[in-house]
Amino acid sequence: MTAPRTIGVALLGLGNVGGGVVKLLEDNAAAIEARLGARLEVRAIAVRDPDKLDRVVAVDRALLTTDVDAAIRRPDVDIVCELMGGTTLAKDAVLAAIAAKRHVVTANKALLAEHWGEVFGAAERAGVDVYYEAAVCGGVPIIRVLREGLASDRVESIIGIVNGTSNYILSTMTESRRPFADILAEAQALGYAEADPTLDVGGGDAAHKLAILVNLCFGTTIDVAAIPKDGIDVVDPIDLAYAEKFGYVIKPLVIAREHGEPGTGPIEARVHPALVPSNWLLADVSGAKNAVYVQSYALGPSMYYGAGAGMLPTAMSVVSDMIEIARNMFARAGSQVARPRPTRVRPMVPVGDLRSPYYLRFGVHDQPGVLGQLMTILGAHAVSIAQVVQDGAPARRDSDTPVWVVVLTHSAREGDVRAALGEIDALPIVREPARVIRIAT
Ligand code: HSE
Repeated sequence: MTAPRTIGVALLGLGNVGGGVVKLLEDNAAAIEARLGARLEVRAIAVRDPDKLDRVVAVDRALLTTDVDAAIRRPDVDIVCELMGGTTLAKDAVLAAIAAKRHVVTANKALLAEHWGEVFGAAERAGVDVYYEAAVCGGVPIIRVLREGLASDRVESIIGIVNGTSNYILSTMTESRRPFADILAEAQALGYAEADPTLDVGGGDAAHKLAILVNLCFGTTIDVAAIPKDGIDVVDPIDLAYAEKFGYVIKPLVIAREHGEPGTGPIEARVHPALVPSNWLLADVSGAKNAVYVQSYALGPSMYYGAGAGMLPTAMSVVSDMIEIARNMFARAGSQVARPRPTRVRPMVPVGDLRSPYYLRFGVHDQPGVLGQLMTILGAHAVSIAQVVQDGAPARRDSDTPVWVVVLTHSAREGDVRAALGEIDALPIVREPARVIRIAT
């Protein structure tokens, strides 16, 4: 019997995901070998501190090195797996691996979202693969679905929940009706949220993932910094209660769709919490789970759901990418298979021209004529009202406590809504700036 072929792997980084990769390669070694007809073997692991003791998995100390370049250039390494994160050292490492003609697997959404052209241009010139399933929605194989499963289809729109931390916090707020700050502090104490949660709860992480999804769906790179985004901190428990009364839940969404001519028209892309009708499948995606709802020309609607983070789910995507690359190597298909299609530049729909229905919550003095003033200004800016409620009354007539007037609008232009709110917020009857949350359609 001949010995099975072996593919050599260098891991750059041995944190949670790197540890998961080592564990999965060990736990599923027999199944992987049976499927691939080859073994995947870790030959080097680049780490910052080889003496660190509290690793998530035990590894052979001889594999550890602080020399990233040496790990990449080992002659017995075929695939470099970048799990360092960040866009400086990680970018250098990925470009060095490509230059050394190593195939690359990365989970680094920021690197790909911000340097897509540079990374894939270098990979194309070097004739190597760059795979990145773990960069978007962790263990949910959405990249493979868009690149392979729907390769013959045309995506019209996607609506996704792609940040587990935000989804966990909003889901817990919905269940408990407690404020954002309390739930965030609890999530941090439990290790569910980062010490600096800005990227997750502010929408930056979701924008990186959306930029990658847009590229796959619509064949264009977009400037990730130009994606309009609102964080989930705009949501108060009272908004969750009103949403429920109107038949909605509030979810942290990414939305992208093409406008105009299929294949060439401008692209709408945005990241924000939104009211989602409670009978939508996405309304049931709770806790830290992720999901992407895809509307495509031939298949129609389809949804992909699962764990968007976590050691083994994310490691699963990374190791599956290694298996794909190894298959390409054996088939001599090389980068022909994985190379993304050439990207065009398609304009983004300007923020002011984005349209959706809106949930607006106004804190006003309870006085005659207040509703009239609000409605007149909204109407003057072509914002049409679908429903209005005014709930309760302040404890005393002269109280400073605002009463809430909640308005659901028909579909309106963002620019018109903002202009109307600019006028309304300046009225003497207004106690606090309007709360604005979009409604998903
Ligand atoms: N921090 C991300 C999340 C996972 O909360 O979904 C990695 O992208």
